[in-house]
Amino acid sequence: MRRLLLLSVLCAACGDTTIVDPMERQPKFKPFAANSFYEDGRAMRQPPEGTVPRERQTSRPEITTGRDRSGQIVSAIPIPVTRELMLLGRAKFEIYCAICHGLVGDGVSLVATQMSLRPPPNLHKLRNPSPGHVFQVVSEGFGLMASYAVQLTPHDRWAVVAYLQALRRSQAAKLADAPADIQQKLRAEAGQ
Ligand code: HEC
Repeated sequence: MRRLLLLSVLCAACGDTTIVDPMERQPKFKPFAANSFYEDGRAMRQPPEGTVPRERQTSRPEITTGRDRSGQIVSAIPIPVTRELMLLGRAKFEIYCAICHGLVGDGVSLVATQMSLRPPPNLHKLRNPSPGHVFQVVSEGFGLMASYAVQLTPHDRWAVVAYLQALRRSQAAKLADAPADIQQKLRAEAGQ
Protein backbone atom coordinates (compact mmCIF):
# COMPACT_ATOMS: atom_id res chain seq x y z
CA MET A 1 0.00 0.00 0.00
CA ARG A 2 2.77 2.38 0.96
CA ARG A 3 4.51 1.68 -2.32
CA LEU A 4 1.33 2.50 -4.20
CA LEU A 5 1.03 5.81 -2.38
CA LEU A 6 4.63 6.73 -3.21
CA LEU A 7 4.03 5.87 -6.84
CA SER A 8 0.96 8.09 -7.09
CA VAL A 9 2.80 11.00 -5.45
CA LEU A 10 5.66 10.58 -7.92
CA CYS A 11 3.26 10.50 -10.85
CA ALA A 12 1.53 13.66 -9.73
CA ALA A 13 4.97 15.27 -9.64
CA CYS A 14 5.74 14.18 -13.22
CA GLY A 15 2.80 16.04 -14.71
CA ASP A 16 3.50 19.23 -12.80
CA THR A 17 6.33 21.01 -14.58
CA THR A 18 6.17 24.02 -12.24
CA ILE A 19 8.21 21.99 -9.77
CA VAL A 20 11.25 22.16 -12.03
CA ASP A 21 10.53 25.40 -13.85
CA PRO A 22 10.18 28.43 -11.55
CA MET A 23 9.28 30.66 -14.52
CA GLU A 24 6.04 28.76 -14.87
CA ARG A 25 5.20 29.44 -11.22
CA GLN A 26 5.85 33.17 -11.22
CA PRO A 27 2.85 35.52 -11.29
CA LYS A 28 2.04 36.60 -14.83
CA PHE A 29 -0.79 37.44 -17.19
CA LYS A 30 -1.57 34.99 -19.95
CA PRO A 31 -2.63 36.11 -23.46
CA PHE A 32 -6.29 37.19 -23.64
CA ALA A 33 -6.54 37.40 -19.83
CA ALA A 34 -8.20 40.42 -18.18
CA ASN A 35 -6.06 43.02 -16.44
CA SER A 36 -7.67 45.89 -14.62
CA PHE A 37 -4.40 47.84 -14.60
CA TYR A 38 -5.02 49.03 -18.16
CA GLU A 39 -7.95 51.17 -19.22
CA ASP A 40 -9.10 48.71 -21.85
CA GLY A 41 -9.07 45.92 -19.24
CA ARG A 42 -6.84 43.66 -21.37
CA ALA A 43 -3.49 42.14 -20.45
CA MET A 44 -2.34 42.08 -24.08
CA ARG A 45 -0.95 45.40 -25.32
CA GLN A 46 -1.02 46.91 -28.79
CA PRO A 47 2.47 47.02 -30.31
CA PRO A 48 3.77 50.61 -30.60
CA GLU A 49 2.63 52.42 -33.72
CA GLY A 50 4.81 51.70 -36.73
CA THR A 51 5.94 48.27 -35.47
CA VAL A 52 6.53 45.84 -38.33
CA PRO A 53 6.92 42.08 -38.09
CA ARG A 54 10.39 40.87 -39.06
CA GLU A 55 9.06 38.76 -41.92
CA ARG A 56 6.40 41.18 -43.14
CA GLN A 57 5.34 40.50 -46.70
CA THR A 58 6.47 43.58 -48.52
CA SER A 59 5.32 44.56 -51.97
CA ARG A 60 8.21 42.35 -53.08
CA PRO A 61 7.71 38.97 -51.38
CA GLU A 62 10.57 37.51 -53.43
CA ILE A 63 12.97 39.53 -51.26
CA THR A 64 11.52 38.63 -47.85
CA THR A 65 10.40 35.07 -48.56
CA GLY A 66 12.41 33.97 -51.62
CA ARG A 67 9.12 33.17 -53.37
CA ASP A 68 7.31 35.19 -56.01
CA ARG A 69 3.62 36.15 -55.82
CA SER A 70 2.53 32.78 -57.16
CA GLY A 71 4.55 30.99 -54.46
CA GLN A 72 7.31 29.82 -56.82
CA ILE A 73 10.84 29.79 -55.40
CA VAL A 74 12.86 32.46 -57.21
CA SER A 75 15.74 31.37 -59.43
CA ALA A 76 17.87 34.53 -59.18
CA ILE A 77 18.99 36.85 -56.37
CA PRO A 78 16.25 39.54 -56.27
CA ILE A 79 18.42 42.41 -54.96
CA PRO A 80 21.41 44.15 -56.59
CA VAL A 81 24.63 42.21 -55.99
CA THR A 82 27.18 44.83 -54.98
CA ARG A 83 30.61 44.69 -53.41
CA GLU A 84 29.04 45.73 -50.07
CA LEU A 85 26.59 42.83 -50.30
CA MET A 86 29.45 40.41 -51.00
CA LEU A 87 31.46 41.70 -48.02
CA LEU A 88 28.39 41.40 -45.78
CA GLY A 89 27.79 37.89 -47.11
CA ARG A 90 31.36 36.90 -46.40
CA ALA A 91 31.17 38.22 -42.82
CA LYS A 92 27.87 36.44 -42.13
CA PHE A 93 28.97 33.21 -43.82
CA GLU A 94 32.14 33.08 -41.78
CA ILE A 95 30.21 33.70 -38.55
CA TYR A 96 27.19 31.45 -39.09
CA CYS A 97 27.96 28.83 -41.74
CA ALA A 98 31.70 28.18 -41.87
CA ILE A 99 31.83 26.39 -38.51
CA CYS A 100 29.97 23.51 -40.13
CA HIS A 101 30.36 23.92 -43.90
CA GLY A 102 34.00 25.08 -43.79
CA LEU A 103 35.50 28.49 -44.60
CA VAL A 104 35.31 27.81 -48.34
CA GLY A 105 31.99 25.96 -48.11
CA ASP A 106 33.44 22.57 -49.04
CA GLY A 107 32.12 20.80 -45.94
CA VAL A 108 35.57 20.47 -44.37
CA SER A 109 35.33 21.63 -40.76
CA LEU A 110 36.08 20.43 -37.27
CA VAL A 111 32.38 20.28 -36.47
CA ALA A 112 31.74 18.13 -39.55
CA THR A 113 34.15 15.49 -38.25
CA GLN A 114 31.95 15.17 -35.15
CA MET A 115 28.62 14.95 -36.96
CA SER A 116 28.27 11.31 -37.78
CA LEU A 117 24.55 11.20 -38.53
CA ARG A 118 24.57 13.62 -41.44
CA PRO A 119 27.70 15.75 -41.83
CA PRO A 120 27.24 19.22 -43.35
CA PRO A 121 27.56 18.78 -47.13
CA ASN A 122 29.97 20.41 -49.54
CA LEU A 123 27.99 23.47 -50.65
CA HIS A 124 29.61 23.42 -54.10
CA LYS A 125 28.15 20.03 -54.95
CA LEU A 126 24.48 20.55 -54.19
CA ARG A 127 21.83 18.86 -56.28
CA ASN A 128 19.95 22.16 -56.31
CA PRO A 129 22.38 25.10 -56.06
CA SER A 130 19.79 27.71 -57.13
CA PRO A 131 19.88 30.95 -55.08
CA GLY A 132 16.20 30.55 -54.19
CA HIS A 133 16.77 27.08 -52.74
CA VAL A 134 19.75 28.15 -50.65
CA PHE A 135 17.70 31.12 -49.36
CA GLN A 136 14.92 28.70 -48.37
CA VAL A 137 17.38 26.41 -46.58
CA VAL A 138 18.79 29.31 -44.53
CA SER A 139 15.31 30.72 -43.84
CA GLU A 140 13.48 27.54 -42.95
CA GLY A 141 16.18 25.00 -42.14
CA PHE A 142 16.72 21.75 -44.03
CA GLY A 143 16.63 18.24 -42.57
CA LEU A 144 19.04 18.28 -39.66
CA MET A 145 20.11 21.86 -40.27
CA ALA A 146 18.38 24.55 -38.22
CA SER A 147 16.86 27.75 -39.62
CA TYR A 148 19.03 30.87 -39.41
CA ALA A 149 16.08 33.25 -39.87
CA VAL A 150 16.52 34.66 -36.37
CA GLN A 151 20.21 35.41 -36.78
CA LEU A 152 20.07 36.65 -40.38
CA THR A 153 17.65 39.20 -41.85
CA PRO A 154 16.39 38.46 -45.39
CA HIS A 155 18.99 40.98 -46.65
CA ASP A 156 21.76 39.12 -44.77
CA ARG A 157 20.52 35.81 -46.21
CA TRP A 158 20.69 37.09 -49.79
CA ALA A 159 24.18 38.38 -49.02
CA VAL A 160 25.20 34.88 -47.88
CA VAL A 161 23.62 33.38 -51.01
CA ALA A 162 25.59 35.81 -53.21
CA TYR A 163 28.84 35.13 -51.38
CA LEU A 164 28.29 31.40 -51.70
CA GLN A 165 28.03 31.78 -55.47
CA ALA A 166 31.36 33.62 -55.48
CA LEU A 167 32.90 30.92 -53.29
CA ARG A 168 31.63 28.25 -55.66
CA ARG A 169 33.20 30.04 -58.61
CA SER A 170 36.45 30.52 -56.74
CA GLN A 171 36.70 26.82 -55.94
CA ALA A 172 36.43 25.85 -59.59
CA ALA A 173 38.52 28.73 -60.94
CA LYS A 174 41.33 28.21 -63.45
CA LEU A 175 44.47 30.32 -63.58
CA ALA A 176 43.22 31.88 -66.82
CA ASP A 177 40.14 33.23 -64.96
CA ALA A 178 42.30 35.55 -62.83
CA PRO A 179 43.21 39.08 -63.96
CA ALA A 180 46.61 39.30 -65.71
CA ASP A 181 48.48 40.87 -62.77
CA ILE A 182 47.13 38.27 -60.34
CA GLN A 183 48.07 35.50 -62.79
CA GLN A 184 51.61 36.84 -62.82
CA LYS A 185 51.71 36.98 -59.03
CA LEU A 186 50.37 33.43 -58.71
CA ARG A 187 52.91 32.16 -61.28
CA ALA A 188 55.69 33.86 -59.38
CA GLU A 189 54.51 32.31 -56.10
CA ALA A 190 54.42 28.88 -57.70
CA GLY A 191 57.95 29.45 -59.01
CA GLN A 192 57.00 29.18 -62.68
C1 HEC B 1 25.54 23.26 -37.06
C2 HEC B 1 26.05 22.97 -38.38
C3 HEC B 1 25.53 23.79 -39.55
C4 HEC B 1 25.55 25.16 -39.71
C5 HEC B 1 26.08 26.19 -38.74
C6 HEC B 1 25.01 25.43 -41.03
N1 HEC B 1 24.65 24.25 -41.63
FE1 HEC B 1 23.93 24.04 -43.51
N2 HEC B 1 23.74 22.04 -43.22
C7 HEC B 1 24.13 21.35 -42.09
C8 HEC B 1 23.77 19.95 -42.22
C9 HEC B 1 24.01 18.85 -41.20
C10 HEC B 1 23.14 19.83 -43.48
C11 HEC B 1 22.52 18.57 -44.06
C12 HEC B 1 21.09 18.46 -43.56
C13 HEC B 1 20.37 17.23 -44.03
O1 HEC B 1 20.56 16.82 -45.18
O2 HEC B 1 19.58 16.71 -43.21
C14 HEC B 1 23.16 21.15 -44.08
C15 HEC B 1 22.69 21.45 -45.35
C16 HEC B 1 22.83 22.65 -45.99
C17 HEC B 1 22.48 22.91 -47.37
C18 HEC B 1 22.07 21.85 -48.37
C19 HEC B 1 20.64 21.69 -48.62
C20 HEC B 1 20.47 20.69 -49.77
O3 HEC B 1 19.86 21.07 -50.76
O4 HEC B 1 20.97 19.55 -49.69
C21 HEC B 1 22.75 24.23 -47.62
C22 HEC B 1 22.56 24.98 -48.93
C23 HEC B 1 23.23 24.80 -46.39
N3 HEC B 1 23.28 23.82 -45.42
C24 HEC B 1 23.63 26.11 -46.25
C25 HEC B 1 24.01 26.68 -45.03
C26 HEC B 1 24.26 28.10 -44.84
C27 HEC B 1 24.21 29.14 -45.95
C28 HEC B 1 24.57 28.26 -43.52
C29 HEC B 1 24.84 29.55 -42.79
C30 HEC B 1 23.74 30.49 -42.74
C31 HEC B 1 24.54 26.95 -42.89
N4 HEC B 1 24.19 26.03 -43.84
C32 HEC B 1 24.84 26.70 -41.57
C33 HEC B 1 24.76 21.88 -40.99
C34 HEC B 1 24.95 23.23 -40.76
